[in-house]
Amino acid sequence: MAKVLIIGAGGVGSVVVQKCAQVPEIFSEIVLASRTLKKCERIKKRLDRPIETAQIDADDTRALVSLVREIRPNLIVNVALPYQDLSIMDACLATGVDYLDTANYEPPDEAKFCYKWQWDYHDRFREKGLMALLGCGFDPGVTNIFCAHAAKHLFDEIEYIDIMDCNAGDHGRPFATNFNPEINIREVTQKGKYYQEGKWIETEPLSVHETFDFPQIGPRKMYLMYHEEMESLVKNLPGIKRIRFWMTFSDAYLTHLRVLENVGMTRIDPVDFQGCRIVPLQFLKALLPDPGSLGGGYTGKTCIGCMIEGKKDEKPRRHYIYNICDHEQCYREIGAQAVSYTTGVPAMIGAMMMLTGKWRGKGVFNVEQFDPDPFMEALPHHGLPWTETLLEE
Ligand SMILES: NC(=O)c1ccc[n+]([C@@H]2O[C@H](COP(=O)([O-])OP(=O)(O)OC[C@H]3O[C@@H](n4cnc5c(N)ncnc54)[C@H](OP(=O)(O)O)[C@@H]3O)[C@@H](O)[C@H]2O)c1
Repeated sequence: MAKVLIIGAGGVGSVVVQKCAQVPEIFSEIVLASRTLKKCERIKKRLDRPIETAQIDADDTRALVSLVREIRPNLIVNVALPYQDLSIMDACLATGVDYLDTANYEPPDEAKFCYKWQWDYHDRFREKGLMALLGCGFDPGVTNIFCAHAAKHLFDEIEYIDIMDCNAGDHGRPFATNFNPEINIREVTQKGKYYQEGKWIETEPLSVHETFDFPQIGPRKMYLMYHEEMESLVKNLPGIKRIRFWMTFSDAYLTHLRVLENVGMTRIDPVDFQGCRIVPLQFLKALLPDPGSLGGGYTGKTCIGCMIEGKKDEKPRRHYIYNICDHEQCYREIGAQAVSYTTGVPAMIGAMMMLTGKWRGKGVFNVEQFDPDPFMEALPHHGLPWTETLLEE
């Protein structure tokens, strides 16, 4: 029995709240706080059990500390934006509350994805006897747990990992992003990067691609990108020779993105406009569909998983572990599209792991540092079944 404070009433927040509400024996009290109170109220109306709501600007650490002192939660689940990570971690330290998120901190003025800022909190969390769990969505999150599961059960030695994220869904809009547009476009337009033989190798944005035949979907072109889980996996799976991350994009998405980039609409530096300073990407976000609103009419599936190669009993092996998620099924269940669903469900399960003591530690952790078994067991029970195949010996 625990009280959870969920911060962020967007597409992912709506899933986390509804999924926590389905497990009252653990999440006995739920508080949802976000910048815009009416978004919290809208989510509250979807539930058949009472929750509390609150307005908060999570960038304001002092206001957040007062709210946390008033609510006295056991855990804060941060599904606002990565910009708020450090401010919420500071509030956790000030109030003695555990922390969980799904995306690593990045400074608003620089699209730089790395765990350093948050890993630097390790000693402070450890000294206070608190736990912070980072990157507990799908990717990062479940993809790291698939790797931990492979290291525990399938391989003596893991050599190569390819994380492949395919969204073959159709939301019927000319251009939309499946999670926060600003964060998504910053991620997609940065340089690609992968790890090989002890070195990070940079590539021009979306310049490297391959085609993969995704189960239940078919062949799709996927592009090499940098993604944050590679940084923690390289650290936590010593001996790995190569790790890459791939994501599929439709030609229409890429054409829109190229035009927006070419005209300067994806810039993250402020420009003068009629006497105001505006950030073009933030203005673009205001025009694009809210990711939480894409669910109705969204058809098709996502397939996210890890292709892992290595050795077992000195013989080479290749395993593919993946989840398929159906947009329409997610919408029927909780009014969400599959990208929000596949992020929100693991966040709820991670919270469950922490609150039941199945995953405990003092300090700042990534999910692959814990026993993958209880998490893997919980995934299908909460809507995310997974498949494991042995491709060759
Ligand atoms: N690991 C994964 O697999 C994965 C996948 C997808 C997304 N994510 C992460 O999940 C998070 C949420 O994504 P989303 O698609 O739900 O985004 P979203 O729909 O834009 O929702 C973000 C929510 O956070 C609120 N918020 C923003 N700044 C805030 C602040 N200063 N204080 C309080 N609330 C604030 C927003 O409020 P307003 O509406 O008032 O602005 C909005 O309700 C992002 O960090 C994203 O990177 C992780």
